[in-house]
Amino acid sequence: MISLKNPAQIAKMRDAGKILREVEDEVRAAIRPGVSTAELDALAEKLIRKNHAIPSSLHYEGYPCSICASINDEVVHGIPSAKRILREGDIVSIDCTLVLDGWQADSAFTSGVGEISEADAKLIRVTEECFWKGVRQCIAGNRLGDVGFTIDSHARKNGFTAIREFTGHGIGREMHEDPAVYNYGDPGRGLRLRRGMTLAVEPMIAMGDWHLSVDDDGWCARTVDHSRCAHYEHTIAVTEDGLPEILTLPGFVWGAEE
Ligand code: MF3
Ligand code: CO
Ligand code: CO
Repeated sequence: MISLKNPAQIAKMRDAGKILREVEDEVRAAIRPGVSTAELDALAEKLIRKNHAIPSSLHYEGYPCSICASINDEVVHGIPSAKRILREGDIVSIDCTLVLDGWQADSAFTSGVGEISEADAKLIRVTEECFWKGVRQCIAGNRLGDVGFTIDSHARKNGFTAIREFTGHGIGREMHEDPAVYNYGDPGRGLRLRRGMTLAVEPMIAMGDWHLSVDDDGWCARTVDHSRCAHYEHTIAVTEDGLPEILTLPGFVWGAEE
């Protein structure tokens, strides 16, 4: 069931999004060779609680941490650990969800650690472009297939593949609501977007093949071919004017995005 949000509810989600942006920007600034993913997790949890929010991922279906930190061929749900030390040349995806006053915000980004290769920099850049091209399709009256097709096409055009085994999702009072927001699809097909829909749009893009396997910890998903992967996610709302607002990017105005 899809729950539409009214402007007052979207305003609450905007408040949650603003805090999440601050948290993620601080985590991004702490990424450097030698830091462990457990340190990044502790930093995120401290900042979330300082802002009177709650980390949504912690204890979610048994997940043990406040962020997911997925390194290199890890796509999503990498569990932070004191043993996972970031090294020069790694790429790390940080995905964090928090809840403020009952309303969720979910956002992810991939960062290089120190100097990274041209190829990895391109992967990160193209993944962010996939998000922006996809979110531009999130206009009232368009369909989810328009969003997925746009993301998948841009990945392919650059020699990459969009992950199929995980998707974006509706978001609101729950971290995961209907509908699933696929990162592939057919233009003109799928659910029609409406004012009041709030969605997490999150392309996950692999340099090689999109097939995944899950580690023995039951969480960490990595590419079978061990190709590197990037992830970029924001929580968005289709607002009264029919256009997407990026709730996890406060002050964002269309025209300044790329
Ligand atoms: N933030 C993730 C998403 O984008 C979900 C986190 S899974 C958890 O949907 F287990 F870490 F909570
Ligand atoms: Co997320
Ligand atoms: Co999400």
